[in-house]
Amino acid sequence: MTNPGGFFSDLKILWHMAVTGGRGRTHEERLENFYSGQASGYDSFRKRLLHGREEMFASLPSVPGGVWVDLGAGTGENAENWGPRLAEFSQAYLVDLSSSLLKIADERIQARKWQNVRTVHGDATQFVPPEGAADIVTCSYSLTMIPDWFLAVDQALRMLKPGGTFGVVDFFVARKWPAEGLTKHPWSTRTLWQAWFANDNVFLNPDHIPYLQSRFETISLNQDRGTVPYLPLVRAPYYRFVGRKPLNS
Ligand SMILES: C[S@@+](CC[C@H](N)C(=O)[O-])C[C@H]1O[C@@H](n2cnc3c(N)ncnc32)[C@H](O)[C@@H]1O
Repeated sequence: MTNPGGFFSDLKILWHMAVTGGRGRTHEERLENFYSGQASGYDSFRKRLLHGREEMFASLPSVPGGVWVDLGAGTGENAENWGPRLAEFSQAYLVDLSSSLLKIADERIQARKWQNVRTVHGDATQFVPPEGAADIVTCSYSLTMIPDWFLAVDQALRMLKPGGTFGVVDFFVARKWPAEGLTKHPWSTRTLWQAWFANDNVFLNPDHIPYLQSRFETISLNQDRGTVPYLPLVRAPYYRFVGRKPLNS
């Protein structure tokens, strides 16, 4: 399924992150160029970079018989984060544009013998489950890689049933003047992390949290920082948001 990592696997991934940086004519080509050489070591490296995923999934409600859609699902690692609750869904869709990462997700589904999980090669801004609606939609470190991220949020809102849950975990930077209750970041945090991640077509955005809060009722919001492999002195800012689609929308 995936290799267990190790220093040489990390080195390969760091090389891809630093050198290939995701070039290509279209968004899909850039994703595939970025991920095709690092797909097998992806999970091991990202476990140490993409913080808060386990906590976010643990905080989502159980919906027996429901439909879960993961937008920008990558290797499908997040399906593991449901634990035994995954089996309660009637259907789960792992949507992504990168064939290399979806191949790992398909291997995972086969290895785990998950009957109710399916990969979809498609765009997060356009996907609708065949059932017509979802009970839970998640975006785990995908909004920062989706150029029209606001369309993905709108699409999540559209496909969710009234009262359905949207869970997001991702990197971010704060606005210079954040609303009351939101974290403030110094100039160095707001500028340096944006520049560093943009090299890999990961765009940290000060508008994610305000936009999510304008579209969904906030159930919980956590703003934190997490370690970055091989950069011991710094912590990258990330947030976890769980929201409810208003009953009257
Ligand atoms: C940093 S990875 C996160 C993968 C996974 N959610 C995780 O937590 O490990 C971002 C993912 O978003 C996917 N992605 C980017 N733009 C997309 C789009 N427009 N539609 C679907 N997936 C997209 C990428 O291919 C990649 O798999």
